[in-house]
Amino acid sequence: MLELDALVKRYRGFGGETICALDGVSMTVTPGELIALYGPSGSGKTTLLAIVAALMRPDSGCVVVDGVDVVGLGEQDAARYRRLELGYVGQSLELIAGVPAIDNAALKLFDTRIGVREAHRRVVPLLDRLGLGQRLRHRGDQLSAGERQRVLIARALATDPKLVVADEPTGSLDTERSREVLTLLRELCEERGVAMLLATHDPQAAAFATRTRALLDGRLVDRLPDVPLAGLQER
Ligand SMILES: Nc1ncnc2c1ncn2[C@@H]1O[C@H](COP(=O)(O)OP(=O)(O)OP(=O)(O)O)[C@@H](O)[C@H]1O
Ligand SMILES: [Mg+2]
Repeated sequence: MLELDALVKRYRGFGGETICALDGVSMTVTPGELIALYGPSGSGKTTLLAIVAALMRPDSGCVVVDGVDVVGLGEQDAARYRRLELGYVGQSLELIAGVPAIDNAALKLFDTRIGVREAHRRVVPLLDRLGLGQRLRHRGDQLSAGERQRVLIARALATDPKLVVADEPTGSLDTERSREVLTLLRELCEERGVAMLLATHDPQAAAFATRTRALLDGRLVDRLPDVPLAGLQER
């Protein structure tokens, strides 16, 4: 479903120095698999996910999604890919402020031809499962950070994508809620055959994954120096 081959991405720092955010990353995520991409701050997780989401191009390397190289997509095709084929949960918790949770969650569906009623019919069960059944009419600015994060997860999943990439999707959730959301994501992977790549620096999140890959300074490594090995072993 998702194949990354030898991805390299460098940024230019303010002093003109080169920062190698990704240094030859290759991996595969198959349908039904939830891969935790575990790494410290600055290890390149967001860069990797942004490239998979075609929000950014790598300097070299390929990203193949369902047989299509997304690095080569033009602007319109990339936007279509993000809207319909990919579920992307970014690190930002921004919702459309004056708009109810239900419409914030249905946003991607409004770009299709299904109509508002049908869009709502599709997102309500997701919002329910995410514990937001009592918050459907709350506006974006009336929701807590954890609630906004869950609305964004619902938005990402609303189009029933076969590939989901999520950047710290439990970063604003307490331990209990975090477990619930991770359990749900894992279930969705299995039920719907979704391939999911989830960036995290929470060792707990790794416990919900099918496999965990560790990223350090832009490279996949077998283990991180300060993390108990058990959390990173492939299962
Ligand atoms: N636009 C940019 N310009 C220059 N350097 C950047 C830019 N974006 C990221 N970097 C650098 O690239 C490296 C990887 O950043 P990235 O955001 O991918 O890390 P991360 O693993 O997502 O970190 P975090 O856990 O804090 O979100 C970091 O050293 C960062 O400072
Ligand atoms: Mg990040």
